[in-house]
Amino acid sequence: MKKQKILVTGSGGQLGQELKKLAVSYSQFEFIFLSSADLPVHHVEKVKNSFGSYHPQYCINCAAYTAVDKAESEQDLAFRVNGEATGILASVCKEYNCRFIHISTDYVFDGTASVPYKESDLTNPCSVYGASKLEGEEKALRFNPESIIIRTSWLYSEYGKNFVKTMVKLMRERSEINVVNDQYGSPTYAADLAEAIIAIIDYCRSSDEKWKPGIYHFSNEGVISWFGFASTIKELTKTNCKINPIPTSQYPTPAKRPAYSVLDKTKIRETFGIRLRDWKESLSDCIKKIN
Ligand SMILES: NC(=O)c1ccc[n+]([C@@H]2O[C@H](COP(=O)([O-])OP(=O)(O)OC[C@H]3O[C@@H](n4cnc5c(N)ncnc54)[C@H](OP(=O)(O)O)[C@@H]3O)[C@@H](O)[C@H]2O)c1
Repeated sequence: MKKQKILVTGSGGQLGQELKKLAVSYSQFEFIFLSSADLPVHHVEKVKNSFGSYHPQYCINCAAYTAVDKAESEQDLAFRVNGEATGILASVCKEYNCRFIHISTDYVFDGTASVPYKESDLTNPCSVYGASKLEGEEKALRFNPESIIIRTSWLYSEYGKNFVKTMVKLMRERSEINVVNDQYGSPTYAADLAEAIIAIIDYCRSSDEKWKPGIYHFSNEGVISWFGFASTIKELTKTNCKINPIPTSQYPTPAKRPAYSVLDKTKIRETFGIRLRDWKESLSDCIKKIN
């Protein structure tokens, strides 16, 4: 049987690199990893040329503008990459009969809820980044209703820039740090998300009916504040740094963040049988890799 091809955009990012690492265990697929230099996803002709050369059966869009604070002053660029380019990829996927999997964010919500957000809950982003990602979701589903969108939250890995790596570094360098204690969410180890995405593709490959388009939520299990997250990082790295809990009001940032952005994962679990790991177990695995 001919191997099915999976094209991964933005392959130099956290999720892209985790997918690359995982690819060696999935010999039933042929992976095509394209970085921002290989394929700038906002460039319609280049996107069409890539699909024309590779003819993939699946496309996982890991390309994104993810600088949440910078987006407040780079609105056009954030919307071009997260909004417009997602629309381009979605429609080119439709043209080439390729299944499109797009990654979105908990920041499409305003964080005023007190119970986990379901996929059908009202969105109301409170930042440019969140609004640009929401536009991407809308364009994906409008131009290619067969798309699968996976919203995730607080993504970290051994790669790139993220909260865990920043904390590990700061805790080694400083004797005391302040961390926000009034924003709650669920961390997501990018390796777990990568595995969930490939598991969905693998599950659906035997029958077209198994592919259920729409929006899904994915994160690790459990709810925590950034302070609680930092405290566990301290525990796992065995550092002596003092961590002070502070309110968001004492840590002003250009972009507003949702105070509560826990995602309800029932739909992805029930539709595709995806296993969700506890956030502490996954964090411990990642810290071992960082060390
Ligand atoms: N990080 C989080 O906490 C978080 C939370 C929720 C959801 N998400 C979503 O999860 C997904 C993966 O995030 P991540 O943390 O892996 O992101 P990341 O590490 O920032 O990687 C994004 C990648 O996209 C590439 N890229 C940027 N503009 C591009 C363009 N025009 N064309 C092609 N590639 C481009 C970047 O390349 P360069 O580095 O060369 O620019 C980078 O390699 C994103 O959709 C993000 O919005 C992330």
